[in-house]
Amino acid sequence: MSGSWIGKDLPAIHRDGEEYFLLGHEDALYLVVNRCPHRGGPLKFGFINDRGEIVCPMHRGAFPIGRLIAQPSTIRLDERRGEAG
Ligand code: FES
Repeated sequence: MSGSWIGKDLPAIHRDGEEYFLLGHEDALYLVVNRCPHRGGPLKFGFINDRGEIVCPMHRGAFPIGRLIAQPSTIRLDERRGEAG
């Protein structure tokens, strides 16, 4: 899926004892928990396949980006780019 990316080169993002990674998708930015729904693998180090799924590096499970975004733990950031806050 074009326009989706994982911020794998960014430093770890911690919040409330949980590690997140930055996900860009359809012009919006999200913080997604860096824990695979399968067995907790580091999704941040996976890749996005051409079906718009994040493929986990641990067992190659593929999870639709829409499903990851819909997780209650996912945080949507402000859509405006280049502006703080
Ligand atoms: S931990 Fe991600 S596919 Fe198993």
